[in-house]
Amino acid sequence: MKDTMNNNEKILNSKDWDFQWENIFDHYQQDMRHAFYINAILNPNDKEILELGAGSFRDIVMLNKLGISCSGIDYSDIAIKFAQEKYPDLKNKIIRDNIFKMNFKDNSFDLSYHNGLIGYYKNNDILSIFKEQARVSSKRIVATVHNKHNIGFFEYFEKLKKKDSLYDLRFFEVDEMQELLRDVCSNVVIIPVGKRKEYYEDYLIKIGLNDPKSIKKSFDYHGMDLLNESERLMCIGELKK
Ligand SMILES: C[S@@+](CC[C@H](N)C(=O)[O-])C[C@H]1O[C@@H](n2cnc3c(N)ncnc32)[C@H](O)[C@@H]1O
Repeated sequence: MKDTMNNNEKILNSKDWDFQWENIFDHYQQDMRHAFYINAILNPNDKEILELGAGSFRDIVMLNKLGISCSGIDYSDIAIKFAQEKYPDLKNKIIRDNIFKMNFKDNSFDLSYHNGLIGYYKNNDILSIFKEQARVSSKRIVATVHNKHNIGFFEYFEKLKKKDSLYDLRFFEVDEMQELLRDVCSNVVIIPVGKRKEYYEDYLIKIGLNDPKSIKKSFDYHGMDLLNESERLMCIGELKK
């Protein structure tokens, strides 16, 4: 394994991500939870899905395995190369593109999402990303972000980021996400997700009870009760169109 970048070097561009993926691509393939969270919130009429900044492409692999047509884009040449080599059957759905100006027609997808992507960007960039995401999506967009209400998790990243810039990213609060999504969404539902791979929805996934009904039941039952102990906020916005 290569050394990570220097302490204070922020991840800023596709070359920085190339460097990261050289090290973390295989490791990421072991955690499939986010694909099951997305699967749980899909509607029967969501036929074409897109992931922005798909990186390891693990989600699109799992979603396609589950029978959902999902493509992913990323601007890291290394991420694209590794993913196309590892998943040759999905080569056409593993696409090099830039999230700020995607090579898709308006409304090409029913739903698009990203996970851990916008934490590396400032607010004005995030607003541009949401605008472009809304352009290519016809019904809903999803932004999964690191949860600032989970103080322990936030402090853990504060420590790790001193040694590894992968952890140097923004965490978000519920109100902040509602505000950021307001320009393009008429209604935003936020589901706190991620329980250390051990508890609640993560426990169901761990024991193989990962069908959408079971996971959704857990989300609905707990609502916002587990906000302070969840790793991420899955923010689901209905588009204003
Ligand atoms: C935190 S990673 C996402 C990891 C992904 N959710 C997964 O499960 O593997 C962020 C990804 O977004 C990509 N990215 C960042 N800015 C981008 C841009 N402007 N255009 C396309 N991809 C971008 C990076 O290359 C990186 O792979």
